[in-house]
Amino acid sequence: MFVVTIISGGPPDEQSSERNEDKVTEPIVVAKGLTKVYGEGDTAIAALNSVSFTINAGEFVVLLGPSGSGKTTLLNQIGALEPSTSGSLTVNGMEIAGMSDKERTEYRRSTVGFVFQFYNLIPTLTARENVALIAEITGDDPEARSDIVLNSVGLSDMRGHFPGEMSGGQQQRVAIARGIVKNPPLLLCDEPTGALDLETGRTILDLLQSTAEGENRTVFLVTHNSTIADMADRVIRLRDGRIVGDDVNGNPTPASELRW
Ligand SMILES: Nc1ncnc2c1ncn2[C@@H]1O[C@H](COP(=O)(O)OP(=O)(O)OP(=O)(O)O)[C@@H](O)[C@H]1O
Ligand SMILES: [Mg+2]
Repeated sequence: MFVVTIISGGPPDEQSSERNEDKVTEPIVVAKGLTKVYGEGDTAIAALNSVSFTINAGEFVVLLGPSGSGKTTLLNQIGALEPSTSGSLTVNGMEIAGMSDKERTEYRRSTVGFVFQFYNLIPTLTARENVALIAEITGDDPEARSDIVLNSVGLSDMRGHFPGEMSGGQQQRVAIARGIVKNPPLLLCDEPTGALDLETGRTILDLLQSTAEGENRTVFLVTHNSTIADMADRVIRLRDGRIVGDDVNGNPTPASELRW
């Protein structure tokens, strides 16, 4: 596990935002020359082309980039869902490529939460059962914990419904509830507000922002929406599989004040 030391009144870490100025952060994700090539020969596509960056524990990071720039590919790498082609990627000091199958499974269970771009809900399970399935992995009372999280995304009334009976935005909120119910130190979100109206989107972003602050959770959020970048501690920009920007935001906007 990563360690975060709070030194009250101590010097600000040079990469910390104003909000976190009394917090000394540790790197949680470190990529060096990370490359992912899909296919072979003439049809090979370098979805990630020698990408290097560092994310500190507790940061709210927004990953921006046009369609096809490699955003989902990068999330899948950090989530240990696909093998890399070359380069290095460590999370909490552990090299993902060097993990045994057992270690990788344990890493996905205990360290990362996923909110997938296309929800990936199980159609034959209700909203509550979809969330409880993930809650079961990490402890007791999965139904009760699922209900609390479904309530926090505004879906108490829908918990007995199946995904096919829900709107896209409601399904997306179930996917978000599933991502946060096991309280992961690292939450990976792929376009979590893509199907939501402004008000619901802001509520969800506010929830993600406050859990990042309050519980020192690291949030890595992919979006096309450059307005959302204003709430980030760090903004990474991808284009054609390469990083074209990596900026620290010293004064993040509260999610509730975003307009788009
Ligand atoms: N499983 C795969 N097999 C082959 N090519 C893939 C695969 N997954 C992604 N790619 C290719 O890799 C590139 C990056 O895709 P990726 O899904 O990471 O983009 P993205 O930035 O998430 O786009 P979007 O915003 O549309 O979701 C694209 O050219 C895509 O066609
Ligand atoms: Mg994508």
